[in-house]
Amino acid sequence: MFPGQAARGAAPIRDPAETPRGGLLRRVVLLSALFVCASAPATAEEARLDAAIGKALFERPWVPAPSSTRANDGLGPLFDARSCSACHPGGAGPGTTALDAEGRPEALGLVLSLFRSDGGGDPAYGHRLETMTLPGVPAEGGFKVEVQDGRRIPRLASPGYGPLDPATHMSLRAAPDLRGRGKLEFVDDATILALEDPDDRDGDGVRGRARRLATPEGGSSIGRFGWKASHATLAGQASEAFALDLGLSTPLRPEPWGDCTEAQTACRNAPHGRDAEGEPEISDAIVQRIVTYLRGLKVPPPPDDRRGARLFAATGCAACHRPTLATRQGGTVALHTDVLLHEMGDGLADPAGVPGAAAGEWRTAPLAGLSRALATGTGLLHDGRAGTVAQAIGWHGGEAAGARARFDALDAAERRRLIAYVSSL
Ligand code: HEC
Ligand code: HEC
Repeated sequence: MFPGQAARGAAPIRDPAETPRGGLLRRVVLLSALFVCASAPATAEEARLDAAIGKALFERPWVPAPSSTRANDGLGPLFDARSCSACHPGGAGPGTTALDAEGRPEALGLVLSLFRSDGGGDPAYGHRLETMTLPGVPAEGGFKVEVQDGRRIPRLASPGYGPLDPATHMSLRAAPDLRGRGKLEFVDDATILALEDPDDRDGDGVRGRARRLATPEGGSSIGRFGWKASHATLAGQASEAFALDLGLSTPLRPEPWGDCTEAQTACRNAPHGRDAEGEPEISDAIVQRIVTYLRGLKVPPPPDDRRGARLFAATGCAACHRPTLATRQGGTVALHTDVLLHEMGDGLADPAGVPGAAAGEWRTAPLAGLSRALATGTGLLHDGRAGTVAQAIGWHGGEAAGARARFDALDAAERRRLIAYVSSL
């Protein structure tokens, strides 16, 4: 399905036009509708308009149902932000992962993921600790972070539905910079699979395997998005965010109560924004426009530093942080990742794994955009624990132990040069 499709014909998009801030958007929507009437195939101009609408939707604060602006209601009842951009660095919110003196997150850039080793969520709290709620629905509570030897250990604060199930594990997740990440959709499965080396045939200590996700049709797709490559598509990742973070239903996640479990009856019974025909609160048209926006976000340009790049390769960083990947269109995308899962050792491991990804397995984090993370205080690594590139490297173990040892063995000047290179990505 392609971007312009939803603007076609009569299908109304429950969309920005009705909001008070929607003046410009209304014009954009109308313009795009006019444009679409005049020309059947999707054009660059149409895609540009879709991306502009997608950006507005990414930044839009959603409101609870029922509201006078039905087009943007349905938030919650449990949620942990009002917009996509509230969490992601570079968006409206600061996106940092910093903690205050009591260990509370200072911004929305950190979320608390709840999971069991069978992939399920907590029977009472679900898959996410939502930190906000609507009137009439008991809050789930908040969380604090204890730092022990540099590790971040989450603790529930004022849990509203009793203790977690003994089988439930907690893990922090930082909201990544999304610039350029959408381009991973243009990388073929075969390109990613060609980089796998699960048996370490080349003997470099670096294995890596693609995450295979089961599809509803019984097939499998290659995970590309998220710290553990848990989503194959932007639409899947966005739909999960709508469900878990915003409490909004989408065609892929149709339950209107978001992450409320059967144990959370007030939440299940609260009003939602689904219309009479049972359409999800967020239509496919909205999801697709956000996807178009994310696909269009440019990769931050890499620094012009050949010596730094050579050192990066010679130290073995590039074995996982592949500088570029070929795209279907014949070009390349320079994100510094291989999109594969690597076993990174106990220091980085979650308390447990999930089906398809062991506790210590993580997708090679794309390094593109790192300079902004460092400038804005967004911590590095999946839980934001590292404040500098050197600290992040210090946590590299498992398959990355060799690269870390080579980094440690560099002389001081080379180490500085490599850190400066990575810090400027
Ligand atoms: C409450 C904070 C929060 C909100 C709101 C939020 N996200 Fe995220 N987002 C995250 C976190 C945390 C991750 C990493 C998740 C993981 O890997 O487990 C993430 C990951 C992603 C990724 C994958 C990035 C990558 O490197 O693979 C995309 C794409 C994304 N979010 C899009 C969205 C969209 C679209 C919305 C709105 C519908 C949204 N997010 C709302 C916190 C948030
Ligand atoms: C075996 C594969 C592998 C090798 C080799 C490797 N890394 Fe990584 N790197 C990863 C993975 C996986 C992560 C994400 C780990 C996590 O967040 O728990 C990561 C994360 C990072 C991060 C944090 C990025 C962010 O957005 O939070 C930095 C910085 C980094 N690596 C730099 C390096 C450098 C520099 C080298 C070479 C000295 C290197 N890495 C070698 C796999 C590797």
